[in-house]
Amino acid sequence: MRHFLELSDWSASDLWDLLHLAVRLKTEWQAGGNKPILAGKILGMIFQKPSLRTRVSFEVGMHHLGGHAIMLGPDEIGLGKRESIADVARVMSGYVDGIMARVFAHEHVTELARWASVPVINGLSDDHHPCQALADLLTIYERCGQLEGLKLAFVGDGNNVAASLLQAAQKLGMHFAIATPEGYELPNAATLPGIIATDNPRLAVADADIVYTDTWVSMGQEAQSGERETVFAPYQVNDDLLRSAKPGALVMHCLPAHRGQEITDAVADGSQSVIFPQAHNRLHAQKALLVALLTQSTETAV
Ligand code: CP
Ligand code: NVA
Repeated sequence: MRHFLELSDWSASDLWDLLHLAVRLKTEWQAGGNKPILAGKILGMIFQKPSLRTRVSFEVGMHHLGGHAIMLGPDEIGLGKRESIADVARVMSGYVDGIMARVFAHEHVTELARWASVPVINGLSDDHHPCQALADLLTIYERCGQLEGLKLAFVGDGNNVAASLLQAAQKLGMHFAIATPEGYELPNAATLPGIIATDNPRLAVADADIVYTDTWVSMGQEAQSGERETVFAPYQVNDDLLRSAKPGALVMHCLPAHRGQEITDAVADGSQSVIFPQAHNRLHAQKALLVALLTQSTETAV
């Protein structure tokens, strides 16, 4: 059974198939609507954490493709508490055609995949956010017409979003640079060949085609917010930092944004920002993923 737990589980060629399918599905949808490729299919969505984009884009995506999604919030199934993850996975596999899960520990999503007999999609764990990175690749490809050879600079916390972007860059031939404060590095980034891992935001952003940031306080880290806001203050993406990037570099943020912290209003709402098209592309990229996993093919009539 094929799953989508980390971006690096998929080959470059499979990721390109997803991106090309996403482009076709988006074009078809913009021309009036998608064909009901997923008619009769049900996606079970498990959320241990809050969500706007992931929840709405998966549910709307299933609807556009003729299927249906069921939302299971943090208080409903008690994943691993009321019932073991192995039992939840085996029960749900008899009801639904795919499971999308947003969890704290990454092991929760790997455990679901281990026991499920339907595809499992990681809708964000503490370690990875592959759906975000897939949609981001689509946005960069649409805007730049290519991926290979571009420089993606991430500034801020070495978190789940950064981890998935690094994997995306490595798979698809992009240069990746990351600037994080000491103690908040992306695990292993410094040891990987061809990756710039520094504590200097200006160095990371130098000549970048894309400047990307994310919250300094991820879900589950709220108790550390005071300390993090102090440590990360020099890592704000603002007009001054952006001047180190290539002229016209794209500004990206997975959202939700904490304006005035990791990004200024002027940059988030400036002419180089693509944060809203980026959020909207979650819908189109995930439709491709849903088609690929729930029909086990990207060779559709679209
Ligand atoms: N970017 C993202 O995953 O947003 P949500 O947390 O709102 O789903
Ligand atoms: N790094 C953030 C991403 C939110 C979409 C978090 O995990 O909360």
